Order: sequence, then structure tokens, then C-alpha cells
Amino acid sequence: MTRVFISRDMASVALGADEVARAFADAGCEVVRTGSHGLFVIEPLVEVEAGDRRIAYGPVTPADVAAILDGTHPNCLGEIAALPFFARQQRFTFARCGIVDPLSLADYAAHGGWIGLDIARAAEPQAVVDAVKASGLRGRGGAGFPTGIKWQTVLDAPGATKYIVCNADEGDSGTFADRMLMEGDPFCLIEGMAIAAHAVGASHGYIYIRSEYPFAIQTMRDAIALSAGRIAPFTLEVRAGAGAYVCGEETALLDSIEGRRGQVRAKPPLPALSGLFGKPTVINNVLSLAAVPFILAEGAEAYANVGFGRSRGTMPVQLAGNVKHGGLFEVGFGITLGELVNDIGGGTASGRPVRAVQVGGPLGAYFPPSMFDLPFDYEAFTAAGGLIGHAGITVFDDSVDMAHMARFAMEFCAAESCGKCTPCRIGSTRGVEIMDRIIAGRPVPSSVRPELVEGPSFSADVERKNSPSTSSGQTGFLDQALYSRAPDRIDVSLGAQTALLRDLCDTMKYGSLCALGGFTPYPVLSALDHFPEDFGAPAPVLAAAE
Ligand SMILES: Cc1cc2nc3c(=O)[nH]c(=O)nc-3n(C[C@H](O)[C@H](O)[C@H](O)COP(=O)(O)O)c2cc1C
Ligand code: SF4
Repeated sequence: MTRVFISRDMASVALGADEVARAFADAGCEVVRTGSHGLFVIEPLVEVEAGDRRIAYGPVTPADVAAILDGTHPNCLGEIAALPFFARQQRFTFARCGIVDPLSLADYAAHGGWIGLDIARAAEPQAVVDAVKASGLRGRGGAGFPTGIKWQTVLDAPGATKYIVCNADEGDSGTFADRMLMEGDPFCLIEGMAIAAHAVGASHGYIYIRSEYPFAIQTMRDAIALSAGRIAPFTLEVRAGAGAYVCGEETALLDSIEGRRGQVRAKPPLPALSGLFGKPTVINNVLSLAAVPFILAEGAEAYANVGFGRSRGTMPVQLAGNVKHGGLFEVGFGITLGELVNDIGGGTASGRPVRAVQVGGPLGAYFPPSMFDLPFDYEAFTAAGGLIGHAGITVFDDSVDMAHMARFAMEFCAAESCGKCTPCRIGSTRGVEIMDRIIAGRPVPSSVRPELVEGPSFSADVERKNSPSTSSGQTGFLDQALYSRAPDRIDVSLGAQTALLRDLCDTMKYGSLCALGGFTPYPVLSALDHFPEDFGAPAPVLAAAE
């Protein structure tokens, strides 16, 4: 019987993988459902077993079964690993994803699973923490804090009850690596958490998964049940989030697990000392924990040997937005932004020039192509006024209006703010109002084609600006923003509003309790600094190429 491998990842299923799998089963094939390899333009993807090789075809439809089985289908890709998108990767964390049946313990063990846990359990907890320190692994959830140091704090904390919490809230726009790992190689995360438990002395763990990931939630629950005997006496359970971006912030997440409304806690105390239910708690991102089995199995040096500066190991980069080859690309730190966007991503899906990329989710900075020589490295991105975050890269073509993107950042912050501190709760709403005044007052940016700009047109803005109410007598949102606060006392000139925006960003950056309010200035100010023409100021003069 012919064996075929078809992904059961949520993205593949959305593209029709279930129907393709059914068609192959109806044709008498043995269908093995795997995770996704992570290149969505070739999904739904079918790999046909041929001896010890797998020959890939994609994208395919249920009507393609016969042509694939007799080898005549035109979308034959050969072996996946030889495709340039995969050949350039260094897959440490995602080595099994797309290859194994996610819920087969036999497959997991046959592909190197559990070796890290066995090595860890044979060693003293301190030796495990030392290995993680030596690997140079830094938190992949956003802040890039050294994982080994966090574990050391929990190991050293007094107390018989300690917890391991996995942050799988994955709220950043354009990111999907946590989901792919949980759906495609769930035992890897479980093994990483069991290693962490041994290292710090914890006996129970929680995986907090956003409710928008029903496949991942089910896969993790199934995988926990299947592997319970293997990880005992450590136990695990899944908690589903309730849809708030702020619940990805570690202390709000702890509140949410405890059954309260997710609201950010003031630090200190650190969660490492007083976290879940007041107990010492390791809280790490999915990718941080899933990197650990490799580190234990292959040795800290094998991980630390790859990378750039103080950013060691690999990063599963996620290419999304208006990009030709969207997907997951795991690679050592140091690759440049331009290589990722143009060489790997293939530029925009629309075929128009790339104008901006946002790195690090909704709180990340926008970078223009003139900064594409930036190496993927925590320190380099910080120095350039941005952040790597969870390594999501969202690509925009030249139809993007950066003033609208800055407005969106403020609006997102206002919608998602937990409300605990004033700079974020009030500042973000004032930020939306300022952006509305800037958008209303600027001339149409020459770089933006008006028909492609979402939102009110410039002429409509001016008309509305000069009249506090619409013809129907109802005041619109923009009018309310412009006229609610004694308009005669507001200098609505572009210069004054831009200065006010910078001042507000300064207050939010330094006065907010957490990074939601504190980092919202990154997208806003990077849009203003790199694309001033969209805010009614002169365009920056770029140095000539030669
Ligand atoms: C508003 C906000 C949202 C966050 N969302 C996430 C998230 O979805 N996933 C995540 O791993 N970390 C998120 N973080 C970072 C966490 O607070 C924390 O730094 C992380 O879980 C620590 O794990 P790590 O050291 O492995 O990165 C968020 C932070 C903030 C301020
Ligand atoms: S910055 Fe303040 S109000 Fe905003 S989410 Fe964080 S703690 Fe809550």
C-alpha cells in the first residue's frame, strides 16, 4: 500500500489538506498526518513514500490523486529538504515538524525524542541549569531574557511547590511558530517542560494556549495524555486563554490561570520568586522550552556555536503579510533582514516594491528597505530602535500608509490595554486623537496611491475638520476627536501635533507598567522617523547608492 504524508496543521487544513487526505484514503493509500514543513505556498502538500525518500507534490487538490500516484503531476517538488527555502535553514527546534506523526510516541522516539530528558534526569538539577546557561538560550517570547538565569532563580528559590508555565498565548500579529510546534511536534514542548521541571524542582506545569488555537489545544491535550507515563512524576495540563492580547504578558497570564481577569502585576516580586499561586514559577515561551531538548541531547556547545554576538542558537522566523513565500524559516541569528524578506520571502506577494516591514508583532518597529542590512540580533535591533520579539516579520508594499499604521498601533493599544496604568490606558486614546488630527491635516502623501489608502480621504478629512458635525447632524468619530477638547485651545498644526505625539510616546515609553504601553511608541515613532512624508513632513534624503 502506498504511504503518503499530509499535514494536519491548521494552516494546511485551511488550505484544503483534509479533503486531499480523504481523497488519498479513498484511493486506497495509507495516509499519515504530520505537522507542516512551514512553506504555505506549496500547501496542501503531499509527500509520497518512495523507499527511504519522500517525493513532494504541492500545492495539490483532491482531483490530483491519480496524477500524483503515477508520478506525472506537474507540481512535483522532489525532496522537500532540497528546496532552497528548506536547504538554507538550520532546524534545531523544528527538526521533526512536517516529518513525524505528531501524536506517535514511536515516531518521536525514533527521531531523537526523549534523549534530552533522559540526559537531564541522569544529571543534577544544577548541571541542567548550567547547560541551559552555557547554550546562551534567551527567551523567545519577546524580551530575550537569558533562560538559564531565570531557571537558576527558580532553582534557588525556597519552597516545596514550584510551577512550570508555558506561554503559548502567541498574540503577535503575523506569528504562528508556537502553534506550528504544538500541532506538529507536541512531545518536543512536553519534553522541554519536563526538563525544566527537573532543573528547578517543579512537579506540575500549565500550558496556556490562546483560544483561537483549537487544534493546538486538542493536540497538546492528546499528547499530554499519551506521554503522561513518560514524563511522570511531572504532570501537565492545558489552559485555554480567553482572547486578550495582554494575557500573553507573563503576570497577566498568571492571573488568568488563577481564574481572575488578566491584569498586569507590578514587579517585584518576580514570577520566578512569587509567581503562580504565589509560588516560584518558571514562565517561558513555547520556543524557549522547545529549544531545550536539543540543547541537552546535542550539548550546549552545539547550540551556542550557531548565532551572532550575544544572540546564540537559532530563531524560527515567521514571514507573513504581503510576502510571496510566507512561512516558517528557522535559522541562526545573524542573517540580515533583507535576506529574510527578499531572498527567502521573495519580496511582496503583490509584486509591488517592499516599502516597510514590521518586526516583532504589533509593538515592533517598522523598518524601510534602506535598513535591510540589519542583522537579526537582539542588540542590533535594539540599537536600531526596534525589537525582535517573537520574530514575526510582516511585509508591506508601497501602497501602505504609515500614518494609518501609526494610528493603528495606538488604537490597538487602546483596545488591548488592561487599564492598570494611566500612560497606556489614557495615553493610547489621546494618541489615536493626535493621529486623527495629523491624518486630517496632512497633504496626501505622494508615496501613497489615494485609492489604496484605507480610511477617510484627505479632502473628506478637511471638509470634516472644518465642520464639527456631519450633514445628518450626527458627529462622527473624527469630529469628536477634533472638537471634544476645547478646539480653540488646541494647536492643530502638523508641527504641533507631531511634537505632541513624540511627547506622548515619551510618556508612554517611560511611564507604562508593562511593554504594551511601553513599546507602542516603537511602531509609532519608527513610522514617523522613517516615513515622515506620510505625516506631512518632507521625505528623508537617502544616501545615493554609489
Ligand atoms: C503585552 C504583552 C504580550 C505578550 N505576549 C506574549 C505571548 O503571546 N507569548 C509569549 O511567549 N510572551 C509574550 N509576552 C512576553 C512575556 O511577558 C514573557 O516575557 C515571556 O512569556 C517570557 O518567556 P521567555 O523568557 O521564554 O520569552 C508578552 C509581553 C507583553 C508585555
Ligand atoms: S502598560 Fe499599563 S495599562 Fe497597559 S497593559 Fe501594561 S499594565 Fe496594563
